[in-house]
Amino acid sequence: MSKIKAAVFASGTGSNFEAMMESVYLACDIALLVCDKPGAIVLEKAEKYGVPTFVFDAKQFPSKADYEKVILEKLEKMKISWIFLAGYMRIAGPTLLRGYEGRIVNIHPSLLPAFPGMDAIGQAFQAGVEATGVTVHYIDEGIDTGPIIAQETVAILKEDTEESLKKRIQKVEHELYPKVINQLLEQK
Ligand code: GRF
Repeated sequence: MSKIKAAVFASGTGSNFEAMMESVYLACDIALLVCDKPGAIVLEKAEKYGVPTFVFDAKQFPSKADYEKVILEKLEKMKISWIFLAGYMRIAGPTLLRGYEGRIVNIHPSLLPAFPGMDAIGQAFQAGVEATGVTVHYIDEGIDTGPIIAQETVAILKEDTEESLKKRIQKVEHELYPKVINQLLEQK
């Protein structure tokens, strides 16, 4: 039986995308990478793994609804069932949210609702809290809001620099995201 198909949306370095591709037991086929940043490093990784890409430049479209309509058509044509965001730097609009209701998931490097938005690791580090972590959640129209699926705590150690903290958070992300994806797909 062929696997459920998923798309990853990413605009950055793609370490989470790579972790999914390297996960031997991933219960879905990452059939497409959607990227809004021509030249992003994640595109080189997609090429390495032979994953087709759909790259778009939001500036070329009159509105979010217009580019999301194009993305949606592409996803539906490819029979993609799930969307996993991994460093996609855009807020999803109603077009995408309605098309994939309850099937769009994001990963964020903090214990939400603490430290949403950009530079969550830096925010936690600067705040001097004892712990931060990783959250996997369904998305809604907000910034890093939406029902939480799983969280894992990462302690901030006295000797930590922002860089060492980031490394430990990434390690947790790379293990947690594929695990949660599998759990979600098993439930459906
Ligand atoms: C990750 O920290 C993820 O939690 C956040 O964006 C970052 C993407 O990193 N949403 P990468 O491109 O997967 O390395």
